Order: sequence, then C-alpha cells, then structure tokens
Amino acid sequence: MTVADAFDAVAGSYDEARRRLVPCFDAFYGTAVQVATPPLRDALAAGRTPEVLDLGAGTGLLSLLLAAAVPGVCLTLVDAAPAMLARAADELHARSVPHRMVRADLADPLPAGRYDAVVSALAIHHLDDAGKQDLYRRAADALVPGGVFVNAEQVAGPTPALDRRYDEVWTARIAELGSPTEEIAAARERMRHDRPATVADQCRWLTEAGLVDVDCYFKEWRFAVFGGRATGAAR
Ligand SMILES: C[S@@+](CC[C@H](N)C(=O)[O-])C[C@H]1O[C@@H](n2cnc3c(N)ncnc32)[C@H](O)[C@@H]1O
Repeated sequence: MTVADAFDAVAGSYDEARRRLVPCFDAFYGTAVQVATPPLRDALAAGRTPEVLDLGAGTGLLSLLLAAAVPGVCLTLVDAAPAMLARAADELHARSVPHRMVRADLADPLPAGRYDAVVSALAIHHLDDAGKQDLYRRAADALVPGGVFVNAEQVAGPTPALDRRYDEVWTARIAELGSPTEEIAAARERMRHDRPATVADQCRWLTEAGLVDVDCYFKEWRFAVFGGRATGAAR
C-alpha cells in the first residue's frame, strides 16, 4: 500500500481523528498560520491576490485555517491522495475559497507559479532525506521575494533515546485524549511510511536552500513548526 492509499483509506474519518492524534493541535496549526500570514497580508495591502501552495494538503486542514485567517487568498493544494483532496475540495467550495487541486507526488515539479507562502503540515516526513532537501530547494525557489515557507511537521528526536521518549509521550497523550485502540493501530500502520528528520537537520537544509530567518517557531515533543523567508522585501 502506498502512502496515498493509506490516507485515502481513512479520508472519511481523517479530520475527526486529528485532535486526538495531534495533541497540541491548536498551537501546532495556529503557529503555522501565524508564520504564513504576514506576507499574505502584505500582498493584499499591495492590491494583489495572495497565493498559497500547500504541499501534502490532504483534506485541506491547514489551507482552510489560512483561508479563514486571511480572507481573499488563492490556494493551490498538492497531494497524491485523490480521496483526501476531494474532501478538501468540498470544504473549499462550501466556503467559496478560490483554489486549484493538483494530484501529484511531492517529488514531481511543483505547480507553476510564484507563491507568497508555501506551507505544509505532516506530509514532508514521508519523503526520504534527499527528497526533503530537494523539495525544500524547489519550495524556496517558488517563493516571491519576502515570501515564507513553513512546515508544521512530525520530527525525529535528536538522539535515539529522545526519539523513544517522543513516542512514549505521544502514546500516553493520545490514550488520554481517548483515541480508540483501532485508531491508534491504524495510525501506527500509517507511520510505517514515516521518515522523520530532526529539526536541526531540516533548519540547516532550509538555510542551504537559500532561505533566511530560519527558525523553529514551536515544538512540543515530536510536533514542530519551522521555516524561513525568501530574501527580498524585508519586514
Ligand atoms: C498526515 S496527512 C497531512 C494532511 C494535511 N496536510 C494535514 O495537516 O492534515 C499526509 C498527507 O501527505 C500526503 N503525501 C504523503 N506523501 C506524499 C507524496 N510523496 N506526494 C504527495 N502527497 C503525499 C498524503 O497523501 C496525505 O494526504
């Protein structure tokens, strides 16, 4: 089963399970929105439609939060899982948010365009490290001057002992939040596709991709939000 098949199989119940499986849901997605919004507001102030590219958008959770935070954005959602994208399309249509859906692998060329923000949540850790670095370079190249890249991501611990601790803490928290045994088993099955990297490695790769002001803005055990800015218009 491919990663896309694994997510398509749970597309109907995906959103409902998120708050149990991502214990820091509000701070995690909220930080990504905070990081991405300034260049979007700048574009609106300059009389332009802000363009957002969401990599591994799934059912559109992060895209929808951005559209709510900055009305007037145009979203491009990329994902390899058609059933996940179909859920996102329904929600975006219901809210009359301008968007385009691109069914593609993250290793494929990015949809043509220049973006004020390239965002991603819980998707890039499915690529191997060479794939992550290549995608970070292409994402940085797709930004307008001053545009922002932000990745809300599941990360590896910096040592094997810390990585084991991340997993222990997550396992305890999702049980506390009432995640049923079958949901945990299904999540663990999907996690067989995971190839997380550390925050330190990924921030270095973003700097090597040419981004500036690279930082980790939020971290709670295995959940981290990091990114950077394309050079050009300074804030
Ligand atoms: C955990 S979901 C995250 C979805 C959404 N970003 C969110 O925050 O809820 C991971 C998504 O990444 C997509 N994905 C994983 N690897 C991919 C790849 N190589 N190419 C395209 N999509 C991929 C999956 O299909 C899935 O929809």
